[in-house]
Amino acid sequence: MSLQDKAETKVGVLIVLSLVVVLWGGLAQIVPLFFQNSTTEPVEGLRPYTALQLSGRDIYIREGCVGCHSQMIRPFRAETERYGHYSVAGEFVYDRPFLWGSKRTGPDLHRVGDRYSDEWHRAHLINPRDLVPESIMPSYPWLDENKLDDDSIQAKMRTLISLGVPYTEDDVANATAAIKDKTEMDAVIAYLQSLGVQLKVRR
Ligand code: HEC
Repeated sequence: MSLQDKAETKVGVLIVLSLVVVLWGGLAQIVPLFFQNSTTEPVEGLRPYTALQLSGRDIYIREGCVGCHSQMIRPFRAETERYGHYSVAGEFVYDRPFLWGSKRTGPDLHRVGDRYSDEWHRAHLINPRDLVPESIMPSYPWLDENKLDDDSIQAKMRTLISLGVPYTEDDVANATAAIKDKTEMDAVIAYLQSLGVQLKVRR
């Protein structure tokens, strides 16, 4: 009986050998990623979200914008022509959680920063159909009426510090003042305007 026949006829041996092969393959794929700087180093010029942008990001999550909008431009011509430079890992190192999304009912938003004016966004979020008549995006008029609830901003920033985001003590100390008297709309717009601006190579 050859070695191969033995391995293939003894179920226990086959299971063990298969596991070894699969585990080795997995390790060979996964372990190098931990040592690859391009996935963990911020791209040049990347700054952590300001207090206002950070609050806006939380409202973006609360309102479920990620259910219709991805933030992940793939390296295909059709995408880079439309949206700009494809997304790179180093742009997301301060994002917790990631908001890459997987559904594009609306356009990708990763490079929407600086594309429109603040006023455009305000009008669009209050009623998208005022600007894009055929739009199926919901209206979010309450964003313009709700004052930002600022109770937890410093705690949020401290949590992010413990996860490696380089906020300074001054950033945290000034956070409450920075978002005082702002509306939820101001925060969402500040967040949108910050998206993808580090790598903006557009036609
Ligand atoms: C039901 C799906 C849906 C949801 C939820 C949704 N959108 Fe949209 N969004 C769209 C569609 C469709 C468009 C394209 C038509 C338009 O511009 O209104 C769009 C367009 C946009 C644009 C313009 C993008 C561009 O490049 O022209 C922005 C900015 C935007 N949405 C932000 C948001 C934000 C912020 C939220 C959450 C508060 C949100 N959207 C929630 C469907 C959605």
